[in-house]
Order: sequence, then C-alpha cells, then structure tokens
Amino acid sequence: MAEIIDGKRIAASVVAAVKAAALALEQRQGVRPGLAVVIVGDDPASHTYVAAKSRMAKECGFNSIQHTLPAGATQAELAALVRSLNDDAAIHGILVQLPLPGHLDPEPIIQSIRPEKDVDGLHVVNAGKLATGDLATGLVSCTPAGAMVFVRRIHGADLSGLNAVVVGRSNLFGKPMAQLLLNANATVTVAHSRTGDLPSFCRNADILVAAVGRPEMVKADWVRPGATVIDVGINRIPAPERGEGKTRLVGDVAFAECAGVASVITPVPGGVGPMTIAMLMANTVIAAHRAQGLTPPAF
Ligand code: GUN
Repeated sequence: MAEIIDGKRIAASVVAAVKAAALALEQRQGVRPGLAVVIVGDDPASHTYVAAKSRMAKECGFNSIQHTLPAGATQAELAALVRSLNDDAAIHGILVQLPLPGHLDPEPIIQSIRPEKDVDGLHVVNAGKLATGDLATGLVSCTPAGAMVFVRRIHGADLSGLNAVVVGRSNLFGKPMAQLLLNANATVTVAHSRTGDLPSFCRNADILVAAVGRPEMVKADWVRPGATVIDVGINRIPAPERGEGKTRLVGDVAFAECAGVASVITPVPGGVGPMTIAMLMANTVIAAHRAQGLTPPAF
C-alpha cells in the first residue's frame, strides 16, 4: 500500500513559513504583503474560492483586499481596476478570478497585470521565465508550484535519471508542471487527450502527474510499480450510495486500485488542492520581498 501524501499538513507547513516571512518583512521593513483578489459577477463556486483566498491572506497577516465587480461590469471598468492595482505600491499580488463572465475577454486583462504582481503566474513574461529556467525572478502558477513541493519532498530537488509523465497540457497546469520537472532535471513527457496508447506512456513514469479532468481515468495497470502518483483532478461524480442526489469528489486517478501499485500517491480531496492557496500566499510574500529589493524565501 502506497504512502498517502497529506496535502493539508504540507500546505499548513507552507502557510506557517509564509506567516513567519510576512511577519519578519513587516518588522524589518514596515511592509505588509498586499494581495488584491478581483472577482466579477456572482458565480457561487468562484465566490467560495475567492473567500477562501481572502481569508487565508488575512490569516497570513497580509493586507488582503477583495474587489467585487457586478456581473455587468465592462472590459474597460475591469481594465481600469487592474491599472489602479498595478499602480498601488501597497499591493504586491493581483489575482483576477477566472472564469470571467462570457462578455469579458480574460486574456488582455491577465496580460495587463504587471508581471511582478502576477501571483497566478499567467502572464506571458512569467510563462517565458519559467520556460527559460529563470525561477529566480519569475512567478510560477500556484497549482504546479504546489505539486512540485510534493515532488521535492519525495525525491529531493534533483530528478536526474527519473522519467516524469504529465497527462494534460493546459497553460494553467500541464505546461508549467512539465517545465518545473524539466528544470529539476527529470526526463519529461507531456501526454494528452490526443496521445496514442496513453497507458503505455504512463507505465514509463517514475513520477506520474494526472491533470486531465476525467474522473478516475488512470487505472492500476497504467502505474509503474513503485511510482509516485500526483493527482491534480477534481471531479464531482454522482454517489447514490450516499443517498439520492448525493455526489462526491474524485480525482483523475482511480485511487484505491492505484494505491496498491504506487509507492506514494496523493488523495482527492486533501492532496494537491490545499497546496494551491498555500502557494498563492507564498507567491504574494515572494513578490513583496522582491518589491523591497530583498531575496525572497524559498518554499
Ligand atoms: N479559477 C480556478 N482556479 C483559478 C486559479 O488558479 N486562478 C484564477 N485566477 N482563477 C481560478
């Protein structure tokens, strides 16, 4: 039976380190890390996520600001808000919650965020810095950064000689995850929905990272015995065994059967999920240090 990674515990240790770094920055420089979270409209799931981010920012001792624009806000209004946050020296991190309402174009908004305040790591400058291995000045997208914390705790910082397979090629996760693994010297394959014979690619992985959004797609016979399996999927499926109309969360990995083959595995929920918010806090405290010309802590 595989070791099951406790994402909540590891996220709590990252948050504790962020709190300590924020406190030290305030005591030494008189600067509080500032995080502005922008949400447009009233999608309940997005409001739940944003409230969790704002709450955690407060808990970390940050200057936590939330801007809620009405569902009918215009592109120009949202752009003006981002401009004002770009110009606000008390704000070190800006996050525009996605998805935006359909009439708004997210791309020009995201690309208008100053790269040094882009704590989501979505600006092309930050994507480019990651692609060129410049982790010292760029900001990395929070979920892959969190998954990489797990990988480092299991395998150390140098993945020389290890095969990593990332299933999924999104800009938000698959591509940056592959870049992080490559930076750490892994031999990286990016597989996706158009890959032929996906199971045989997966069986080659010492580190298998699944981010496809298909419930329990990765089966036990896709997993190399002794592999590390990191499940980034969050899928809600019907759970009639819990009562009529009930649902439950599952990942992209068939957890129970794969846990019998892997040596380390992340659960859903309670694996990568809690790391995303923790790494958003880490990115904000990193951005605040850099704004003062200080070397930020590493997480
Ligand atoms: N919506 C769901 N996940 C994310 C995320 O990581 N960043 C932003 N900005 N919006 C999201």
